[in-house]
Amino acid sequence: MPKPRTSPYLLLANIGQLLTLRGEAAPRRGAALREIGLVEGAAVVCAGGKILAAGPQREILRGPWLRSNRRKVQELDCRGGVVLPGLIDCHTHPVFAEPRLVDFEKRIAGAGYEEIAAAGGGIRSSVAGVRKAAAGQLSENVLIALNAMLEQGTSVVETKSGYGLTLEDEIKSLEAIRQAARRWPGEVVPTLLAAHVVPQEYAGRADEYVRLVCEEMIPLVARRKLARYVDVFCDRGAFTQEQSEKIMTASQRHGLGTRAHVCQFTPARLGPLLEHRPASLDHMDCVQAEDIALLARGETVAVLLPGANYFLGHKEYPDARRLIDAGAPVALATDYNPGTSPTPSMPFVISLACTHMKMSPAEAIAAATINAACALRLQDRKGSLDAGKDADMAVFDVKDYREIAYWFAWDRCVEMVVAGRPARRT
Ligand code: NIG
Ligand code: FE
Repeated sequence: MPKPRTSPYLLLANIGQLLTLRGEAAPRRGAALREIGLVEGAAVVCAGGKILAAGPQREILRGPWLRSNRRKVQELDCRGGVVLPGLIDCHTHPVFAEPRLVDFEKRIAGAGYEEIAAAGGGIRSSVAGVRKAAAGQLSENVLIALNAMLEQGTSVVETKSGYGLTLEDEIKSLEAIRQAARRWPGEVVPTLLAAHVVPQEYAGRADEYVRLVCEEMIPLVARRKLARYVDVFCDRGAFTQEQSEKIMTASQRHGLGTRAHVCQFTPARLGPLLEHRPASLDHMDCVQAEDIALLARGETVAVLLPGANYFLGHKEYPDARRLIDAGAPVALATDYNPGTSPTPSMPFVISLACTHMKMSPAEAIAAATINAACALRLQDRKGSLDAGKDADMAVFDVKDYREIAYWFAWDRCVEMVVAGRPARRT
C-alpha cells in the first residue's frame, strides 16, 4: 500500500495532558516507575520522524524553529485529549490460523490449561493449522492483529513464531511476520519461538528436537536475519531449564538476543537463566523471593501478562507489587495468542494491571511504554518523548491519563502518530 503523502513536519496541538515519560533510557524501578513526566496544556513538534520538542504549548509555539517553519507544518488538533508514547506490546504470538474454541469450551466446563495441553490440545492443536496454512494467509492474520493493536494505541510489537515447530514452518511463520511488518507503519520485533513445546513427532525425544532448534533453526534464522530474539517456554510440559539454557547458548552464539517464558505454572530458579542475560523473562506468576532480588540487581525485565490470567480464569495474578517494591524492572504486554490471551488491547492489559495487580495507572503506563521498550532493548529510540527519539504517539480522547486504565473494554484511542505521521488506519 503506498504511504499517504503527509508532511514530514507535524505539530500535535491542544494536548490536555502529555505524558513524556522523560528520563534516563533505562528500566524504571521502584518509585521511579510512577514518574510519567506529566505536562498539562502541551504540544509536540515532530520533524523527519523524530521528536523535535515536547512541552507546554505556549513554550513550544514560541520556539524559533516552529515560528519560522509554521507554514510547512501539518497540525493535529488533539482537542484536549491525553497524548503518550505509542504503547509497546513486548510479547505476542500472532502467527496462527484459527481461534481455539474447543479448548475455550473445555475450560469453561472445568478443565485446566495444562490438562488440556497434556491431552493433545493447547499449543499443539494450533500447530496443524499453521503447518497447513499458506504464508500469505498467515501474514494476513498477523496484519489483522497488528492493525487491531495500532487501533488501540500500540506502535511497537514483538511477534513470535511458535506454532510451526518444523524448520520449514517456523521459517514460514517468520516470513509471514516479515511480510505483515512491511505493510504496517509501526515497528515489529520478530522472535523465533521454535522451543514452544515438543512437537508430537518428537514425543519422548525432546533432546533431539532441542538439537534441531539449536543446530538448524537458530543458525538459519540468524543467517537470514528473520528474528532478533529467540524465546523458549521453560516450564512443566514444555522445556527443562537445561534445555532452555542450551537454546540460549546457541542463540547467543549466533548473535541473537534471548528471552524466556518462565514461572507461568511452576516455580523455577532463575539464576542459571539470568546468567545468559536475557532481555526479558516473561509471565513470572510464581517467581520466588530470592529471584526477585536477583532481578532487582540486573537489567533483565520481568514482563507480566495478566491477559493470560484473565482468560484462563485464574484467581491469582503475577505479584507486580512485590517485584516493583523490590526494585525489579517490570513491563506489561498482551501475550496475544489463541490459547491464553486472545486480546490485541494494551489498554485492557493496563486496566487489568491496575485492578488485579494493584499497579497505579502511572506505573502501568510506564510499564507499557519505557519499560516495555527496555524489554526489547529499544529504549534509545522508543518508549518516551525525549527530543531525538522516534515520534510514535497515541492520542486518547480522555481528559485524565488515569482514564486509560479506568474505562475497560472501551477503545478510547482516537489517533496514532508513527514516525511523525498520522497512522491510525492502514
Ligand atoms: O504465553 N506459555 C506459553 N505460550 C503462550 C500460550 C500459547 C498457547 O496456548 O497457544 C503463553 O501463554
Ligand atoms: Fe506467551
